[in-house]
Amino acid sequence: SKAPIQVKVVLLGDSGVGKSSIVLRFVADNFKSDAEATIGASYMGKILQFNDKMIKFNIWDTAGQERYHSLAKMYYRDATAAIMVYDITKKDSFDGLKRWHKELSDFGPKDISIVIAGNKEDLVQNEAVPQEEALQFAKSIGALYKKTSAKTNVGVEQMFRDLAGKMFPD
Ligand code: GTP
Ligand code: MG
Repeated sequence: SKAPIQVKVVLLGDSGVGKSSIVLRFVADNFKSDAEATIGASYMGKILQFNDKMIKFNIWDTAGQERYHSLAKMYYRDATAAIMVYDITKKDSFDGLKRWHKELSDFGPKDISIVIAGNKEDLVQNEAVPQEEALQFAKSIGALYKKTSAKTNVGVEQMFRDLAGKMFPD
């Protein structure tokens, strides 16, 4: 059998938006309501069959807390893809993505594939960011836009599949 194609994916976004929870759901199909804030960054890997390809996602989950901000660069510098996460119930976390995107365009690879994830879709009754605004932002930076819930397992694996489709169109 063929060796899998290696891709490096970095998750970026403010603390508490659910980056680690998205990774835990994708890799282990698990959720913790008392998840702890990430320190520095953490790694998890997962192989996915996508069409005729085996793709190994090497996932770097960065810490959103401000004190770790300067570390993120080490992880996105040579990334194939970035998942920029906000919490749909927190407008600040959406506004924060503009800064993450500025850094990615200043210091990241020019051809990086980006997905914006509006996480905590299960709390949609408290949505604080108009869908149209999020879509518009994603479009303006050439990113995909997906809504996810790590808690109820909505859209998580599909987001990685859509990302694979963006990286390997055929
Ligand atoms: P940092 O590591 O500090 O950057 O935070 P993070 O973005 O990794 O957030 P984390 O995954 O630790 O989740 C923060 C909190 O939100 C935890 O209490 C999670 O249980 C909760 N959470 C994560 N995803 C969801 C979701 O889809 N829905 C709901 N309701 N809660 C979620
Ligand atoms: Mg985390």
